[in-house]
Amino acid sequence: MYAVGVDIGGTKIAAGVVDEDGAIVAKTRRSTSPDDVASIDRAIAEVYEEFRGDYEIGAIGVAAAGFVSNDRTTVLFAPNIAWRDYPVGDKVRALIGDDVRVVVENDANAAGWGEFRFGSAKDATDMLMLTLGTGLGGAVVVDGRLVRGRWGVATEVGHMRVVPGGHYCGCGHQGCWEQYASGSALVRDARAAAVAMPDRAATLLALAGGDPEKITGPHVTSAAQAGDALARELFAELGRWVGEGSASVAALLDPELIVLGGGVADAGELLFPSVRAGFERELSARGHRPEARIVAAALGNDAGMVGAADLARVE
Ligand code: BGC
Ligand code: NA
Ligand code: ZN
Repeated sequence: MYAVGVDIGGTKIAAGVVDEDGAIVAKTRRSTSPDDVASIDRAIAEVYEEFRGDYEIGAIGVAAAGFVSNDRTTVLFAPNIAWRDYPVGDKVRALIGDDVRVVVENDANAAGWGEFRFGSAKDATDMLMLTLGTGLGGAVVVDGRLVRGRWGVATEVGHMRVVPGGHYCGCGHQGCWEQYASGSALVRDARAAAVAMPDRAATLLALAGGDPEKITGPHVTSAAQAGDALARELFAELGRWVGEGSASVAALLDPELIVLGGGVADAGELLFPSVRAGFERELSARGHRPEARIVAAALGNDAGMVGAADLARVE
């Protein structure tokens, strides 16, 4: 039986038909608006309509960037999308009409589950996954089980405070880890650097048509790949935050594997050395304990789609 996995980003949804081995047999996408949550419901219903003629679909898994209720129907809160106690599952079912199961899961949990079942962590029992995108998401597998907490909202690692009085966060607090270790953090710092140091930022500014506010994550990635010193520094700094924070998570969980995913992780070797260095620097008892390996998501940006589909099917 097939399941549809839908990954909801800030401005688009990506959806796929996924088989029982985690293979994507069809894919599509739609534009949405983070401020108009009904547009997201409609987009999910539309992709289901698009797929259901060609595939027998038993369930829909929705990967949502927010705090998801224990019964996995409702987004309780999202820092970067306008969901507040929003029953996404019921809304989508009402649009579809069919009696198909809709299971909502935290986006990072879905990605982590995808990697655990079919990707980089398929031989692991204990892992941490971090997704670096608009926000910083976390998924934790302990002893082969996805950790959801008592009320479904565990592993919100992006909102652990790493800088007292630091940058404001969409969750309403200050100094959250995601304000230092995410695509948004990278872009914010790149823009600020371009305003403060236009000479050093010449490459970035050229890519953005001269306007600091038009600098995007992919601009920073391509500048860094081309050897631009400022862009490389921005990635090194981002990696340091990811690695140092991961050492704190390791103090709590002792994972064997840390998997990095999300759009920013595409930067690969621009990012990983500084992540590893930051992790090693801050890991307590280093040299006297086995150490987690830090690897890239094998499913790349499809991890959330694949994991959401699988979770919708098995549970
Ligand atoms: C949200 C998480 C989400 C993460 C990645 C964070 O801001 O609180 O629920 O998993 O972003 O999208
Ligand atoms: Na999570
Ligand atoms: Zn926060």
